[in-house]
Amino acid sequence: MQASKTTTGGFASFVAERSGLKYVFFGGKGGVGKTAIAGAAAYYLAEKMGKKVLISSTNPVHSLTSLFGQDLWKKGIQQIKGTRNLYATEIDVTATIQRYKSEIRERLVQFLKFADIPVDVEPFVEIATTNPAFEESAMFDDMISLILNEKFDAYVFDTAPVAHTYRLLGMSKVYDLWLHKMVKSREEALSLRAKLSFRREKILQELKKDPLLATLIATRRKTEEGRRLLTDAEKTAFFFVTLPLALPIAVVERFITWVEAFSIPIGGVIVNEVIPKTDPTNLSPFVANRIKEQAGYLRMAEEKFPGMVRAAIPLYEREVNGLEMVARMGEDLSRS
Ligand SMILES: Nc1ncnc2c1ncn2[C@@H]1O[C@H](COP(=O)(O)OP(=O)(O)OP(=O)(O)O)[C@@H](O)[C@H]1O
Ligand SMILES: [Mg+2]
Repeated sequence: MQASKTTTGGFASFVAERSGLKYVFFGGKGGVGKTAIAGAAAYYLAEKMGKKVLISSTNPVHSLTSLFGQDLWKKGIQQIKGTRNLYATEIDVTATIQRYKSEIRERLVQFLKFADIPVDVEPFVEIATTNPAFEESAMFDDMISLILNEKFDAYVFDTAPVAHTYRLLGMSKVYDLWLHKMVKSREEALSLRAKLSFRREKILQELKKDPLLATLIATRRKTEEGRRLLTDAEKTAFFFVTLPLALPIAVVERFITWVEAFSIPIGGVIVNEVIPKTDPTNLSPFVANRIKEQAGYLRMAEEKFPGMVRAAIPLYEREVNGLEMVARMGEDLSRS
């Protein structure tokens, strides 16, 4: 596994060395602290580095609202109270999905009308929208739209849809194939309709009017643009959060293989909830054992992700919510 570029330092030096860093993602197993650490990183970039930062979440459980203790639900982009440069948004997934569904319905209706196919559109809408990737796909689309609107110096994403990013980047190829086939079959259909009297330019002109084709081309362009940004090592970094435990380390390992397959730049690994060092003579056997166990997994993380562990964040005496705790975690993230 390659450590990215020459960086072997901590989170602070990683970001300091990349002035063009703009898209920062946090991935990892459920519950490992992605939202808290994304918030801490966004706070650090905004309040300590002076960037205008937007942190966003596509998570349906109002995670940023509870992290910052500020109602962000269905409120668009809000400045975080008590900060100068930090903004947050919680993307409403259900609204996105509804919008996606009606767009698909509209496109299908247009297409079937255009192609003179007199069938009921609803079963097609159902098929197109009840596959398991649909929700993730709608969220990803929102994420790319947000990325493409260039209003902030940096964008931090609470939970990287790693599995989906992986699939979607693979989809670029599928889109190409699909488009190729579509164009061919539209050409054939149109030339038949014109009883071969159309010349090629005319056919191409007709093709440009095809609404489904236009949609496909637009979708492909957006995916392609997203892919270009996500694979730009100057601008993008995916960080992976783990606990000092076997399972979340294994998840990070798998995610890293996936993102490497698509040349997505890896920022590094953050180990969270490390029990702080205390006087070893006064420890209960329970705590002593957990500390020993964690030390083993910390070594494992260093071995599996050489030069990539950017921070080890302590397990706090309380959960991370409210700006004070976010700032404290930001300190620990950048101190390591
Ligand atoms: N270092 C820490 N010390 C104490 N509590 C922590 C720490 N990191 C995270 N927490 C707490 O652990 C819980 C889970 O964290 P968080 O919500 O950030 O995880 P997540 O990976 O985003 O979860 P999900 O996969 O559900 O989105 C939260 O209650 C958070 O406040
Ligand atoms: Mg979360």
